[in-house]
Amino acid sequence: MSKKKLVFSGVQPTGNLHLGNYLGALKNFVYLQKEMECIYCVVDLHAITVFQNPKELKNNVLETVASFLATGLNPEKSVIFNQSSVSGHAELAWIFNCVSRIGWLNRMTQFKDKAGSDKEKASVGLYIYPNLMASDILLYKATHVPVGADQKQHLELSRDIAQKFNNDFNCKDFFPLPEPLIPKNVSRIMSLRDGTKKMSKSEESDYSRINLKDNADEISKKIKKAKSDSEQIPNNLKLLENKPEALNLINIYSEISKTSLEKVLNEMSGKEYSYLKTKLTDLLISEITPVGKEIAKLLRDKSHLMKILEKGREKANIIAEENLKNIREKVGLI
Ligand code: TYM
Repeated sequence: MSKKKLVFSGVQPTGNLHLGNYLGALKNFVYLQKEMECIYCVVDLHAITVFQNPKELKNNVLETVASFLATGLNPEKSVIFNQSSVSGHAELAWIFNCVSRIGWLNRMTQFKDKAGSDKEKASVGLYIYPNLMASDILLYKATHVPVGADQKQHLELSRDIAQKFNNDFNCKDFFPLPEPLIPKNVSRIMSLRDGTKKMSKSEESDYSRINLKDNADEISKKIKKAKSDSEQIPNNLKLLENKPEALNLINIYSEISKTSLEKVLNEMSGKEYSYLKTKLTDLLISEITPVGKEIAKLLRDKSHLMKILEKGREKANIIAEENLKNIREKVGLI
């Protein structure tokens, strides 16, 4: 097996990226590009597992690329492209549909959440989505996958698929078993309105999340309205166990201020949450609003973004085709 480390990750182009995407994934993407070879993909084929307005989808793909660049990804260092432009993703996904087991997919909690109560009406694509995700990663034989905690189960399925393929086709170590890279304290940023739910693009209330495109006024209003706790900030993390909203705000503050949770509590214990909120608002404004401005600036030159995608597609396709040739051979396809 090649010992080369290769990072792959994907983000769906379904509108505004938010603080959860930023802390759980994008910041890690940027950090990793300094250390390893990285491929970052705007996963448009994943997005259409739920109906997307075609015009909006196109714009959202470009906006996701702009968000990648605005948070610090460098197209000279990392390969940046959109999934549907490399047809190998769909081809390998079909092969994996035949390797993966229905029982494995039936255990996927994200399908259960997204399909809701009427599963009969969910698209088949939504159901087999994790097989496509395995194909995204393994098409490049990626070894490391930076994601938030919500993707952990999908990553485990990718490993199962890789292992079963290697066994079925008698090619030990052909596919690497990809390792998830999940940040420690910010693996699951929670909704500002309900600390038991993750911050998400699909949550109805915009007050539940900080978007990368929010301006200072919006950030300030959202943090002011965010649920916290009527008691004072405690000096011990254990006392926050049943206060998910308060813990979430402290977690975000700790991450953005690069201060350990213990230190934050030491500094703030005995104070009201309004004190934390004021400091957090200032930090978020200085970290997030420049990103939003940069996204807006980049979106003024769509042809530049298209060129980045085209260059990325070329690079990605070379690796994909080379690997697919070997995959087809293993399976016995002429
Ligand atoms: P997506 O588009 O929902 O989210 C993109 C990334 O952001 C992370 N994330 C969060 N992290 C912390 N807290 C949150 N509240 C939060 N919300 C989102 C996600 O974990 C993810 O890392 N299936 C994937 C996309 C995908 C992919 C792949 C990822 C497709 N193929 C291959 C890795 C490798 C998804 O829907 O992410």
